[in-house]
Amino acid sequence: MYAIEVENLVRKFGDFTAVNDLTFRIKKGEVFGLLGPNGAGKTTTISMLSTMLPSTSGKAFVNGFDISKDQDNVRKSIGIVFQDQSLDEELTAYENMDFHGRLYRIPKSTRQKKIAHLLKLVELYDKKDNQVKTYSGGMRRRLEIARGLLHEPQILFLDEPTLGLDPQTRNHLWDYIEKLNKEKGITIILTTHYMEEADKLCHRIAIIDKGKIIAMDSSENLKNDIGGDVITIDSSQRDVFYSALKTLPEIKSVELHDSLITISIQNAEQHVARIVNIASENNIGIKSLSIHKPTLEDVFLHFTGRTIREEEASAKDKMRMMRKVRRR
Ligand SMILES: Nc1ncnc2c1ncn2[C@@H]1O[C@H](COP(=O)(O)OP(=O)(O)OP(=O)(O)O)[C@@H](O)[C@H]1O
Ligand SMILES: [Mg+2]
Repeated sequence: MYAIEVENLVRKFGDFTAVNDLTFRIKKGEVFGLLGPNGAGKTTTISMLSTMLPSTSGKAFVNGFDISKDQDNVRKSIGIVFQDQSLDEELTAYENMDFHGRLYRIPKSTRQKKIAHLLKLVELYDKKDNQVKTYSGGMRRRLEIARGLLHEPQILFLDEPTLGLDPQTRNHLWDYIEKLNKEKGITIILTTHYMEEADKLCHRIAIIDKGKIIAMDSSENLKNDIGGDVITIDSSQRDVFYSALKTLPEIKSVELHDSLITISIQNAEQHVARIVNIASENNIGIKSLSIHKPTLEDVFLHFTGRTIREEEASAKDKMRMMRKVRRR
């Protein structure tokens, strides 16, 4: 049995289709990532799978239970960490956990033991009696994960688990997520728009854009599909250069994106001299040229013709911070 099975899942808001015919399966014990830019439909998908939001059409089974018919059993099977923080700031970490345990009707003695165990797991036990409003962003995230695990779910949903965290805290959190998966065998489905996060954590990645899955595989296979290395060139006469490069038989693909030319080619370093020669023969200036192994960014660019822009990510981080400040 699969941990999650999704068939032709659709969610519309009025005329707008936020999630457009998704189909995928997640094996038990897998870490599966939904990677995509703002507004791609990641949270909407997670919301439907966690029964927070009804679907418009299609089917999905979580831990074998139908999301539209067996919501109680779906909810018992899953833990969820929301994109927006959902802790009670005025309560202590322990009280936040305890409240959640009561909601799930976990008996007091078991509850106390589990809370202590989980707070130790995420290294917050020493701070358990401090109010959450005194916690840093990373501590809050760890507490939310601990809370999501209190009723021992087999499947954990993490919606943008490290959004707005500094790189060091992000790395730390990645270690926890890996540990949960490896040591407890929990199936994890996470959403992110950080390529590095998807690359590091996920066994398989579905790249989602405008509500559709545009590619799905392991990170390695996705990158291999691009074919060889990637050469990126910035040139003032990019259209002329592009046409000239298209005539080269050894180039597997050449594409124009934003103001850059992107070439996919095996053993790129052997072809750079030829590419530079073509530029000089045609009096084309090269502003910059770089060679790299394909990244998930290249994969996204390849399939969509756009980049998952870093400024998008940072704009969103800022918004999140502002919301946090307003709440205080
Ligand atoms: N309740 C709603 N009513 C109308 N439109 C909505 C609603 N919720 C989401 N949408 C729209 O659906 C699309 C997908 O939103 P969703 O939150 O799933 O994206 P996302 O991939 O999670 O993005 P982000 O990276 O910003 O979290 C967006 O265009 C959003 O504006
Ligand atoms: Mg989202």
